Amino acid sequence: MSNNYQNEDKDWSDFYKAIKDRPPRETLLEALTFFDKDEDPGKQYYAMDIGCGTGIDTFELLRRGWKVFATDKEQKAIDIIRENVTVDMKENLETAAVAFHELSFKSSDLINAGMSLPFCNPDKFDKVWENVVNAIKINGRFSGNFFGEKDEWAIYDDMTFHTKDKLKSMFTKFEIEFFHERDEDGETATGIKKHWHVFSVVARKISS
Ligand SMILES: C[S@@+](CC[C@H](N)C(=O)[O-])C[C@H]1O[C@@H](n2cnc3c(N)ncnc32)[C@H](O)[C@@H]1O
Repeated sequence: MSNNYQNEDKDWSDFYKAIKDRPPRETLLEALTFFDKDEDPGKQYYAMDIGCGTGIDTFELLRRGWKVFATDKEQKAIDIIRENVTVDMKENLETAAVAFHELSFKSSDLINAGMSLPFCNPDKFDKVWENVVNAIKINGRFSGNFFGEKDEWAIYDDMTFHTKDKLKSMFTKFEIEFFHERDEDGETATGIKKHWHVFSVVARKISS
């Protein structure tokens, strides 16, 4: 097992330190651009940020006035979010330290999963995904990332990887608004060389 691999038993502390000053994920920003175009002034939107880590996306949503339910299986991640939330944002934030498969999903305008769902165990993934799809309101969106089968970590059987075709079949109730495939050598957030195969998706739910 290479030393850059993080799974459910690993400590995410180094990742949390490395990501501290990172901007929000591109997928979230793309999704927010689509919400802006929906022109529903005055509406307060509700998002779940699942596998939120230390909240690079959670804080962007809060800054924009969203109500956010931020969840991660790591209590440490939730503690960091709680330490950094400002008084004016606090009333719009709910948090829970809970794994994807134990989460009570809430009806949401957006479910955001920035680089998190690949860390779900494959045995649990289908049910988690069903819960994600059911929780998104009609005209609501999913934004997030999935790992492809060419990712360097695809040798690990406790993470979930998708072919492009399988991934597209997961979005039959959605209109895909943004799709990007990254298939290249790069580095992890902590600076370790790695081959990335990542699909980034923003999709609007169009049928129940
Ligand atoms: C690569 S980090 C991404 C964090 C954050 N979304 C971001 O964009 O920076 C993956 C996160 O998923 C969380 N995670 C991993 N497995 C999980 C599971 N089974 N249930 C919930 N969260 C999980 C980890 O604790 C970690 O915070």
